[in-house]
Amino acid sequence: MSMEARWTTACASRTWFWTPCARPSGRISSSASAWWPTSNGTSAFRRRRASKIAKRLAGSGKVDFLNIIRGHIDHDAHLTNVIPIQGMASSPHLDFAGEVRATTKFPVFHAARIADVATARHAIAEGKLDMVGMTRAHIADPHIVKKIIEGHENQIRPCVGATYCLDRIYEGGGALCIHNAATGREATIPHVISKTTGPMRKVVVVGAGPAGLEVARVLAERGHSVEVLEATGEAGGQILLAARNPRRKEMIGIVDWRLSELERLGVPIRYNVFAEAGDILERKPDLVVIATGGIAQNPVLEAGDDLVVSSWDIIAGVIKPEGPVLLYDDNGAHTGMTAAEMIAATGAELEIVSPERMFAPEIGGMNHVPYAKAFAEKNVRVTINTRLKSVRREGNQLVAVLGSDYSANASVERRVAQVVVEHGTLPMADLYLELKPLSHNLGAVDYKALIRQENPIKMRNPDGEFDLFPHRRRRRQPQYPCGDL
Ligand SMILES: Cc1cc2nc3c(=O)[nH]c(=O)nc-3n(C[C@H](O)[C@H](O)[C@H](O)COP(=O)(O)O)c2cc1C
Ligand code: SF4
Repeated sequence: MSMEARWTTACASRTWFWTPCARPSGRISSSASAWWPTSNGTSAFRRRRASKIAKRLAGSGKVDFLNIIRGHIDHDAHLTNVIPIQGMASSPHLDFAGEVRATTKFPVFHAARIADVATARHAIAEGKLDMVGMTRAHIADPHIVKKIIEGHENQIRPCVGATYCLDRIYEGGGALCIHNAATGREATIPHVISKTTGPMRKVVVVGAGPAGLEVARVLAERGHSVEVLEATGEAGGQILLAARNPRRKEMIGIVDWRLSELERLGVPIRYNVFAEAGDILERKPDLVVIATGGIAQNPVLEAGDDLVVSSWDIIAGVIKPEGPVLLYDDNGAHTGMTAAEMIAATGAELEIVSPERMFAPEIGGMNHVPYAKAFAEKNVRVTINTRLKSVRREGNQLVAVLGSDYSANASVERRVAQVVVEHGTLPMADLYLELKPLSHNLGAVDYKALIRQENPIKMRNPDGEFDLFPHRRRRRQPQYPCGDL
């Protein structure tokens, strides 16, 4: 084979692109980004081939640096090897990029789950890279460099690898961050919270889940005096559940970072306080924020509500999976799939039933991968377009009756030992409803004004004793009770 033919063949097995980059001097420099294939040929062969291509590029005189990306992206599973998500190895291609640098003696850039400063430092100190790409790390905290320079490295908000950012853009959305509400919304929400120019207010936040912790952090940054009341002995709310899946344990970073920030800001968290109206009133607050979260709720069944257990029971370890299990998920998000993954991991026979066109449509393509992998490896049966109608007991078995939204006549039965349901959460609003008539604003908030950073609270009850931010879940706008407070 001629050199030219070999080159063409090699190029055909990978995707190439050349990226022009503007230098500070104004001169245009070029980088070559190569997606090195990982599934064709032997590892040694692939490495030799990659090294040969890299040397050729470096010697061409046409590029200033190599930007190494390893793998191929012909489907979602392969894409996650290139851009590893939560639960996958950290910096898996760093050594390979280092080999390219050593072989070519040419400047090398590289990004693939180098999420923390320590690993980035190691990459530079060990001569593996000339520049470290930290894409998602900067999405989670765009002030990484500033914090390093100012000696506040411990305040860096860590990327937890949830990859909500990429899953959103692959479905045509903006690159929002699960851990940083300001990312992608900079026009309306600042990354850096400024001190209030108004009066300092006394705030009680009820609930130390992610919302309560975030509210407390933002208000404390604004300079208010904040106290958090938490009913349990631990902060984190539903994140604690999410992190019980060993593959998603990094989610706890969302809680840990906020706890560490609250400690720095001097915000006390009172644990094991199941706050009632009296607990709030005796503190004489100016502002009360209810962030009491929700509890798992059952879907509406024709019969057998009392025979099912919730995905939360499984995830929390309160109920042990007992196969065969039928898991019915009409919420379509991580909670049901987390329960399914944990059930499958025990080896129990499992069928997932969903009324949707695919399992868990709320989860994007990259987060779909580890669930699909676990289900394929454990022979989990996935049944879509199907709704759980009722459950009845027969002997020591449960009979789940399944129907279809597409045909009134469709009805099939499954005999199982356990029916697990995931139907989202029901807000725990009792305290909010009790406090509503005692508040200035009767619990109403003008969210549009809030987003404009104007006063979101209107006086509706002059006899009220405090402003009340409701327990409320809004999908379109984040809840950031900083407004003009
Ligand atoms: C929100 C988002 C958008 C991205 N857009 C592109 C893109 O347009 N082209 C591209 O080659 N890579 C894109 N990437 C991939 C990154 O350049 C990078 O290779 C990848 O995120 C791995 O680096 P990280 O682990 O530091 O995030 C994107 C990544 C993210 C998170
Ligand atoms: S969404 Fe997750 S992966 Fe993306 S930047 Fe935020 S923390 Fe990191």
